[in-house]
Amino acid sequence: MAKFLFITDLDDTLVYRTVGDDSALAELNRLLSQHRQKYGTKIVYSTGRSPVLYKELQAQKNLLQPDALVLSVGTEIYLDGTDTPDSSWSEILSPGWNRELVLSISKNYPDLALQPDSEQRPFKVSFFLQHNAGVILPQLEAELQKSKLNVKLIYSSGIDLDIVPHSSDKGQAMQFLRHKWKFAAEQTVVCGDSGNDIALFAVGNAQGIIVGNARKELLQWHNEHSSEHRYLASCFCAGGIIEGLNYFGFL
Ligand code: GLC
Ligand code: MG
Repeated sequence: MAKFLFITDLDDTLVYRTVGDDSALAELNRLLSQHRQKYGTKIVYSTGRSPVLYKELQAQKNLLQPDALVLSVGTEIYLDGTDTPDSSWSEILSPGWNRELVLSISKNYPDLALQPDSEQRPFKVSFFLQHNAGVILPQLEAELQKSKLNVKLIYSSGIDLDIVPHSSDKGQAMQFLRHKWKFAAEQTVVCGDSGNDIALFAVGNAQGIIVGNARKELLQWHNEHSSEHRYLASCFCAGGIIEGLNYFGFL
């Protein structure tokens, strides 16, 4: 057995967002903690949640202390339990980012409803968008580009729209950690269920586990970009992750 870099999304990947049976989570936590202790495996949670909503989840579910926490869809990286985002990552995201301009352009789209204040972050502007996403997203993207804004639109679960710097997403944050800790792609495994996880699977050839309850936007992307590095689990959430870790021989 050798150490590996384990990166997982939280909502509906590691744990159920609303109702569901989290019983496999205790088993996965046990396996990962043991691996970390014995071999130096690193555990990373990578979520769209802000610090406020992460703390809320931490109070509700049985989470481990991760070696790094990637919040706000890859725009904030917290190392070793600190409360301050890694400044070298923020410096990479800063050039050309203008959240005020993103907000003022987005105001012209009545279908976009701002998410709560806690989810508006230094490098992330987030909306709810439930209708006409297929029409609105390309229009908004074109308009943001016309203003020379170097941004990326990430749409998840048929409702969440995040606008972030182009140099950022969960995949780019993963690459930052891989380089920092020197993990090859084959020693890295990423797990996800929805649109904001696509970057984890698309960037850098890590081994990928798609949980059995994945959303249609991720399944569609997976069908269009098949890869031998990716495993589609049948079990849901933590159960699906255990299935995938066994499939790739990490455990
Ligand atoms: C989390 C965040 C939200 C974001 C979504 C998708 O739910 O709280 O702001 O839009 O993830 O990334
Ligand atoms: Mg999720």
